[in-house]
Parts: sequence; C-alpha cells; structure tokens
Amino acid sequence: MSVSATIAHATAALAEAGVVSARTDAELLAAHVLATTRGRLLLAPDLTEEQHREYASLIAARESRVPLQHLTGRAAFRHLDLAVGPGVFVPRPETELLVEWGLAWLRGHTADPVVVDLCAGSGAIALSVATEHPGADVYAVERDPAALAWLRRNAAEAPVTVLAGDVIDPATLADLDGRVDLVLCNPPYVPLTAAGQLSVEVTEHDPAVAVFGGPDGLDLIRPLVGRVAALLAPGGAFGVEHDDTHGGAVPALLRADGRFERVRLHHDLAGRPRFTTARRAGGWQDGAP
Ligand SMILES: C[S@@+](CC[C@H](N)C(=O)[O-])C[C@H]1O[C@@H](n2cnc3c(N)ncnc32)[C@H](O)[C@@H]1O
Repeated sequence: MSVSATIAHATAALAEAGVVSARTDAELLAAHVLATTRGRLLLAPDLTEEQHREYASLIAARESRVPLQHLTGRAAFRHLDLAVGPGVFVPRPETELLVEWGLAWLRGHTADPVVVDLCAGSGAIALSVATEHPGADVYAVERDPAALAWLRRNAAEAPVTVLAGDVIDPATLADLDGRVDLVLCNPPYVPLTAAGQLSVEVTEHDPAVAVFGGPDGLDLIRPLVGRVAALLAPGGAFGVEHDDTHGGAVPALLRADGRFERVRLHHDLAGRPRFTTARRAGGWQDGAP
C-alpha cells in the first residue's frame, strides 16, 4: 500500500474513533515512523513491513486517545521542539500568546532581565524566553518530580536555572525577592467542576496536578499573587494564564492585593479571556505591561 493510501486508511480509523485532528495526526505519525517531515511525506518510499507494524500500533494507541505528542515524544512550542511524555503537561498553543506578551514586554525594558517561569512543566515558557531573549537570566520552578525530570532533560543544554520547589512557598527563590523583572506562569487552573468537559487525552494523560486548580480553579493562583508581588522588582511585570471563566476573578485578585497596577485581561484568538498581566507598583519605569 502506498504511503498516501496508508495515511487515508489511518485517517478514517482515527476519525471513526472521534479524533478531531484525524488527518493531521495520521500524517504526523507517518512522518514520525518514516523519520521525515509532514511536508515531505509525498516523497517518502512505501513503508516497510516493520514500519507498517509500528504505524498500526501508533494509530491504535491514538485511537484509544493517547496524545499525539506522547506517541512522537515531541511537542512543538514556538521555536522549540520539546521532549514530552507521561508525567508532564503537553504545552498548548494558547500559552504561546503569554510568552509573546512577555517577550514584547522584555524588548521595551532591560537587555539582561531576571525572568522567572513558575510551574514550568516541560520548560516551554522558560526555554522560549531563554532562546528568544538571549541575555535573560531565566529561572524555572517545578514541584512535581515526574515533570521535573522532563524539565531537566529539556533544559540540559539551555541557559536556564531549574529549581525543584513549591511556587507558593516563600522560601522558593527567596534570594530573588524584589529583584525579578518578569514572572510568567501557566499554573494548574481548570475548575474541578469542569472535569467532565475535558477530553480523554487530558483526563487520562495530562497529570492532574498540572491541570486542576481546586473547586473553582483558583487554589494556586490565589496564594501565588502575593508570592509574585514579593518576587518582582518595582516596575516588574507579571503574566498569568487562566481559565476562560476567570476573566473577572484573576484581575480582581491582582487588584485586591494592592501591590499591582495596570492590571489587564488578554483574550485569545477566539475572543476568550486567556491571561492577565499586571505591573508591580512602586517603580520608576515607564511603558505599559
Ligand atoms: C499547566 S502546567 C504548565 C506547564 C508549562 N509551564 C506549560 O505552559 O506547558 C502546570 C505545572 O505546574 C506544576 N505545579 C503545580 N502546582 C505547583 C506548585 N505548587 N509548585 C510548583 N509547580 C507546580 C505542575 O506539576 C505542572 O507541571
């Protein structure tokens, strides 16, 4: 069977299993087996018998809703190709918006900033800042041992300091208190009440500690606000991703703390509230976060 016929067959099987991105996933898994890129699939030779077997087993796993990124072992994020798998949250495209905002903020400020990624997971945010804003002194904090192993692997060659710790513990990064220029955070924020609306890929394969933020989703963000206020230098900036139901609650938490100004809600391309930014009051710098 030709590569295109094999992919068409797999696409039908994935669609039948309810995989939304059936064609894309069938192509990406074929590219993975053939060690080529999706764009070059048409030029690839037919699959060998062994490759057919490997492809069939990957398609069967995807039919049972194992995430595509766990099957290929890789996740694309901005300019990065991250190693991912069981035990670590697969980075999402919407988080690229938070990073985009953070990088734009850095461009208007100091050339050698101190940047902290709280709840670092695979390292998507920290590694993006380190590669796209050379000169930044970047710290990545993660508590979960399984996620930490992936983070350390991804950050092995990168100028990022990895720390095992609880982001709301005042002892974590205490030596940086009052000195951080930018804090970015994609915390666990899905309300437990929304668990029934999530896909099998999320409920069975993303770690629960990475996804859920307690009954209303704010269990971590609530204490985080005060910890970030302590970390930031006057005029420093904070960007935090949150649930699309938190468009009122997260800005309100930042305003209620009393140490933040210019609190702004940002929407994703579908118009949903996606992240909130603010500036640590007390600084001399100009320019909006
Ligand atoms: C939604 S994931 C985000 C991962 C990564 N930053 C990204 O955007 O793909 C949240 C991460 O926070 C970690 N985490 C949860 N609670 C934490 C805590 N109190 N301290 C440190 N890390 C925590 C989880 O283990 C998980 O890796």
